[in-house]
Amino acid sequence: MLCIFALSLNAQEISIIPKPAEMQIEEGEFSFNGKVVLCYPKIKDGGIDAVVDNFVREIKKTTGVKLVKDRLKDGLFLGWDVQEAAKKGDAHIVLYVDEYMLNEAYRLSVTPKIINIAASTPAGFFYAFQTLKQLMPRNVMAGVPDDSVEEWRVPCVFIVDEPRFSWRGFMLDEGRHFYGKEEIKKIIDVMAAYKMNRFHWHLTEDQGWRIEIKKYPKLTEVGAWRDSKVLGWGEVKPDGKRYGGYYTHKDIKEVVAYAKERFIEIVPEVDIPGHSQAAVASYPEFLACDPENKHDVWLWQGVSADVINVANPLAVQFAKDVIDELTELFPFGYIHLGGDECPTHKWEHNSDCQVLLKEIGSTNYRDLQIHFYKQLKEHIAQKPADKQRKLIFWNEVLHGNTAPLGDDITIMAWIGADNAAVDAAKRGMNTILSPQIPYYINRRQSKLETEPRSQGHGDETVERVYNYKPMNGVAEELQPKYMGVQANFWTEWVEEADIVQYLMFPRLVAVAEAGWTPADKRDYNDFLKRLQGEAKYYLLKGVNYGKHVFK
Ligand code: ACM
Repeated sequence: MLCIFALSLNAQEISIIPKPAEMQIEEGEFSFNGKVVLCYPKIKDGGIDAVVDNFVREIKKTTGVKLVKDRLKDGLFLGWDVQEAAKKGDAHIVLYVDEYMLNEAYRLSVTPKIINIAASTPAGFFYAFQTLKQLMPRNVMAGVPDDSVEEWRVPCVFIVDEPRFSWRGFMLDEGRHFYGKEEIKKIIDVMAAYKMNRFHWHLTEDQGWRIEIKKYPKLTEVGAWRDSKVLGWGEVKPDGKRYGGYYTHKDIKEVVAYAKERFIEIVPEVDIPGHSQAAVASYPEFLACDPENKHDVWLWQGVSADVINVANPLAVQFAKDVIDELTELFPFGYIHLGGDECPTHKWEHNSDCQVLLKEIGSTNYRDLQIHFYKQLKEHIAQKPADKQRKLIFWNEVLHGNTAPLGDDITIMAWIGADNAAVDAAKRGMNTILSPQIPYYINRRQSKLETEPRSQGHGDETVERVYNYKPMNGVAEELQPKYMGVQANFWTEWVEEADIVQYLMFPRLVAVAEAGWTPADKRDYNDFLKRLQGEAKYYLLKGVNYGKHVFK
């Protein structure tokens, strides 16, 4: 009886998000009372030291427990001697390399005296530690001490875990509103807690250019500022207040390094040639289709018609130069060039664009956009291997003839996402699912009166987000093209960071689970139960969240 009681207690306490691929709850607990030795090997590509050091530092800070590090000399598999020694004497946490395991995968076995962790990469060990922290009180995940806990313990479990998808992303639009690097770091922390691994930074918009480009200083002298904090829409009028901000190269490097330490790669997005009015306002002389007219950073919501003149060779050079600086700042292998919602009206009325369209043998103005990208792709192709970057585009690019771009591009599918992703995969391209409905987590998450102003009618509930089934019914031969999932946050209506957080959480967590957990292991009611304890994490972490799904 006692034993069953203890087990059921454990079962209640154990609440891991995203749900592991395989988990068995065992009897007993590992205690951090007394000496705990952490043994870890060398591994080929390095990186494990930082993972271990960060874990040791976090445990010390949050629990006061000082783990004793014991670095193994040769990284060989730890024999039974260590295991036996641990059983007799001090408690051990033992890391060992299993080269047969996939990137990001880990095995975690918690027994009363030893915690064994196996992985093949630093990322795998990092995720094992994230799980281990989730097996402890939420202050550990939040990175804050809790003096009220007398004994730090972890329930015994056996977990074999790996992600369903390699791309588990979140996009934040800082073009419309700018929140600053401390806010981004906080988001990165929470993403990492839930094993997300891609932060897509939407850095340019009609309403603001947010990244320093040394070759084009006016992008931030002019393009990062506008005469209104709110963006006009219907009854809401621009407020006339000077508003803006941007990231310097130093800021960007700091955030990239911060994310990297948490196994999150940052993919920058510079959305060109549409959504570019802020850039056009900075350099109308060569970016505007009509330089004779006045161009300002936009004060309104919506899609501006003021797009870059893709027939101007100086505009093409501009884009190449921007890509060169992005390449230096962002080491990740992908750059996102946007490509959504690009009105062609101005091109249709520009003689250079008319001539160029004829030259490329098309009558579809969308092909001018493709031709622009083709030149940028060729520019990247000339770079040395370590500066190669793959390009990502929103799915509207598929509305043109994509043959000149080849198939080694990635399509981020948002509008009609499921069909667009299939279309991309059939063209041989990789694809990422970020369906507007329901993965645009800036939309209202309930019909409650208390919901902050945003888009939608409150239909994109936590449940709806959770129940979207990525890659459902997709033909098996196309499935390898599906890199994963991503939640997007557009900020037209959201001036303040605490409202971003309110709308993001907990829906981001539902997307994290879709990206990680096997499809057949996902269940909304089970998720909702596990979610309840996360409110404590958000409170301790100092992030706002939608409260209505918490009891
Ligand atoms: C988008 O929502 N315009 C990508």
